[in-house]
Amino acid sequence: MSAARVLGIATVAAVGLACTPTPTELEQERRSRLPDSAFATSEDPIEPIPTRTGADPRKVALGRALFSDPILSGNGSTSCASCHVLSEAGIVAGEARSTHPRDDTGPYNVPTVFNVAFNARFNWTGRFATLEDHLRALLLNPEVMDAGTWEELLPRVRRKYERRFVEAGYPSVSEATLIDAIVTFQRSLVTPNARFDRHLRSEEVLSEEELEGYEAFKSVGCISCHQGINVGGNVFQRFGVMEDAFEGRTVGRRDMGRFLLTGRPSDVHVFRVPSLRNVAVTAPYFHDGSARTLEDAITRMAAVQLGYVLPGPQVARIAAFLRTLTGEYEGVSVGESRR
Ligand code: HEC
Ligand code: HEC
Repeated sequence: MSAARVLGIATVAAVGLACTPTPTELEQERRSRLPDSAFATSEDPIEPIPTRTGADPRKVALGRALFSDPILSGNGSTSCASCHVLSEAGIVAGEARSTHPRDDTGPYNVPTVFNVAFNARFNWTGRFATLEDHLRALLLNPEVMDAGTWEELLPRVRRKYERRFVEAGYPSVSEATLIDAIVTFQRSLVTPNARFDRHLRSEEVLSEEELEGYEAFKSVGCISCHQGINVGGNVFQRFGVMEDAFEGRTVGRRDMGRFLLTGRPSDVHVFRVPSLRNVAVTAPYFHDGSARTLEDAITRMAAVQLGYVLPGPQVARIAAFLRTLTGEYEGVSVGESRR
């Protein structure tokens, strides 16, 4: 019997002091008729996202305004939100690869900004170890924000935002406070209460298909790369462990992975394993946006990473499980939010 289930029974005993059965008791009673496999265990390799971030709301609000403000960009027309649309799950819905202001063949699929706080490294190659370093680089990067120099950028921000920075508790607009405000906002972009997390907290019972999908996700070995609080985001792995992931396609610079950073042959096609949080609503997939649907991505992963040809129903079960990883931002499902 699982630890969570023992805990559930202890809760029933505690609320059992009341005279009439409460909704919790009825739910507990219903659960007591379910098999053990329907419950989360303390050994689950995935942890739920905490429901609170503890971030200073004034800084979050300021960071949010900056995130959507094109004054950060050199040409005054691009904001972070141009490519990371919060109402489209933190990406541009349906876009395979990003369009950059200067280079319309933009190289990578845009990763979501939701739950970046839980990634150990940033970008497909994991080039940056902190969100601060990542942001500093991308503000000045001519292919992304092209903000010019700090001496050009800071006065622009100061003119519009000096008062708001002070009201948010910062001494003034500076490189450090600008970075802090935007990063604080990015860290607040967490999506708790996914049905799977509610299952882990024993607040919800998943369907049989979803639970079987989770079992398959573990038993075929997806979990060995996609695990932890973000169901990924914390290790590097080659794209194509068992089979060539690029077979039949021209391999370009974009496909070289960490080799671009290290020059080591062993890093060719090595990428940061992406988080699978909210994955059902962030199609298309892979660093090049080459998998159109979740089912495509699952089928290809099984083949190239694990050497399995997964039958259709197994793919469907895993997809059903992955759909339970869609969380909520400010109380609205990331898949449905429109703001
Ligand atoms: C022109 C489109 C575009 C704009 C504008 C843009 N991004 Fe991105 N963003 C991308 C792409 C593409 C990547 C992946 C780049 C890579 O892997 O090399 C990315 C990666 C990221 C990541 C890393 C996510 C992860 O898990 O690795 C974060 C965080 C992020 N962007 C935040 C921002 C912020 C903050 C801004 C504004 C200052 C911004 N982006 C502006 C396209 C854009
Ligand atoms: C050996 C490590 C490894 C294993 C095992 C693995 N993956 Fe992946 N997964 C990766 C890597 C690396 C990527 C990024 C590929 C790329 O560069 O585009 C990825 C990408 C994905 C994506 C696309 C995410 C996105 O946002 O684009 C999905 C979905 C996915 N994996 C699901 C699975 C499933 C389901 C399984 C089991 C059948 C699995 N993975 C097994 C390493 C792994």
